Amino acid sequence: SPLHDFLKRLPKCEHHIHLEGALSPALLFKLAKQNSITLPQGDPAFASPDALLSRYKDFTSLDDFLQYYYIGMSALIHSADFEALAWDYFQHASADGVHHAEVFFDPQAHVSRDVSYATVVTGFQAACERAEKELGITTILTACYLRHLPVADSLAMFHHPDVQESYQNGTVKGIGLDSSELNFPPNLFKELYGKASERGLRLTSHAGEEGPVEYIRDALDNLGIERIDHGIRLADDPELMKEVAERQIMLSVCPISNVVLRCVKSVKEVPIRKFLAAGVRFSINSDDPAYFGGYILDNYCAVHEAHDLSIKEWETVCRAGIEGSWCSDKRKGEML
Ligand code: ADE
Ligand code: ZN
Repeated sequence: SPLHDFLKRLPKCEHHIHLEGALSPALLFKLAKQNSITLPQGDPAFASPDALLSRYKDFTSLDDFLQYYYIGMSALIHSADFEALAWDYFQHASADGVHHAEVFFDPQAHVSRDVSYATVVTGFQAACERAEKELGITTILTACYLRHLPVADSLAMFHHPDVQESYQNGTVKGIGLDSSELNFPPNLFKELYGKASERGLRLTSHAGEEGPVEYIRDALDNLGIERIDHGIRLADDPELMKEVAERQIMLSVCPISNVVLRCVKSVKEVPIRKFLAAGVRFSINSDDPAYFGGYILDNYCAVHEAHDLSIKEWETVCRAGIEGSWCSDKRKGEML
């Protein structure tokens, strides 16, 4: 349809994609076989890639998804595996009209199973360089810390010499906070974010996905974040919504993810119109595209179907995404 073509041609920036969440069942099974990784025998979901894909249609919550997400990444061992994974994502992103991608990864989830940080970053970095060269997509790597693990674990990871080096040399430019949200309020990670801020890193955090709007206030006040990942619960607090709009803090909204993980009943329930009316800046993103059955363009189309944005509103959304990116002003100028 003409609108699909219009949405595809818009110069899109993606700000919320976990590279581990781009692991398709096909690639998962292929790498598990190559690396002699045994997938859980007792769970019929792991009988075949098709069975796994069907199971992905029945997620009941964030934690129900996360158990599959963490098992899936057990197939990733070598740098080449991480490179193949990220390259798979960048090809989808390119086909969908992404010009700039700020991508997450979860260092602790790999180091905890004895895959070194250097192995992970080397593979992802190689794919990023290839994406820039062959697809013209600019990229930024952001390391997310896992909130379900002890705070001391995140601090130990942050201070690891290889992690510090990746921050020093600019391979990794930001930090985020992800995994199980409920009962893990942002303020637990205040020290980590203070240290990251001192290092001059960009700061974002998941907040207000499954958790309440109070976690958004918490993350803004205690972590000093300049962006909010998800943030759909912001609409529950009009005062805070006004403040977020005034401070031009961007939300990285993931509509299909919110439906699949049952944070909302349908994309209509994602407060897109409230954000537009309040002047809250947001981008539209895929989160974990291989698990949720949609890449970025599917998310744009779902939002259009549910909220019927005008051409002008779509241009506003796209411009906010470019302006809210962490790339150079020069790069923003090329996309605007
Ligand atoms: N890790 C990967 N996807 C996530 C999500 N949607 N929320 C929290 N942690 C995640
Ligand atoms: Zn996420």
